[in-house]
Amino acid sequence: MRCIAEPAAAPPAVPAEGPAPPPLLRGFRPTDVPAIGAIVAEALREHYDPSLYLSLSSEWPSGFLVAADERDAPIGFLLGVSQVAGEARVLMFAVDRGSRGTGVGTRLMETFLERCRHRGFRRVTLEVRVSNATAIRFYSRFRYSVTDLLRAYYSDGENGYHMAREL
Ligand SMILES: CC(C)(COP(=O)(O)OP(=O)(O)OC[C@H]1O[C@@H](n2cnc3c(N)ncnc32)[C@H](O)[C@@H]1OP(=O)(O)O)[C@@H](O)C(=O)NCCC(=O)NCCS
Repeated sequence: MRCIAEPAAAPPAVPAEGPAPPPLLRGFRPTDVPAIGAIVAEALREHYDPSLYLSLSSEWPSGFLVAADERDAPIGFLLGVSQVAGEARVLMFAVDRGSRGTGVGTRLMETFLERCRHRGFRRVTLEVRVSNATAIRFYSRFRYSVTDLLRAYYSDGENGYHMAREL
């Protein structure tokens, strides 16, 4: 509820130059770790050692996609791994809060799926919190479906869904 003394919210500003340009997608660089760590902390509520990003990026460099703004700063990323023959797994996927709902995640996922096909993968899997309705809707739009319930999958005890799609 809003306090009576609080001024009404200003109408949204109309951008002078039209819609923002599509984000640049590029590969991960070690200098991205602080920005990506900050996105992970806010969006996924996790804190990983920087060495994790470095070691995972060396396993499949083109499976780690970074969306950058016009100053080349990361605004989102998708980190994919391949631990099972013929399959990719979306290990981490997040967009900075201020950039969500503008197509950054769609661009990351479309490009990731293209790279998986190019590499000859037949299937992509991922895990998501059961409470994360936004992400589940997003994944469903990309034809992922729930294949399993993962009980107490997350460190805080929340259940997860295992989702998968064929390529
Ligand atoms: C899931 C997540 C990565 C999606 O990223 P995103 O950049 O917001 O994705 P998009 O903008 O491409 O798509 C989001 C929605 O905005 C809509 N959209 C896409 N382009 C748009 C545009 N230009 N303008 C307005 N809306 C747009 C899409 O239709 C989509 O709707 P949906 O709810 O049906 O999926 C993001 O919500 C996120 O970081 N969430 C927190 C972390 C998280 O949950 N990660 C997944 C963990 S498994």
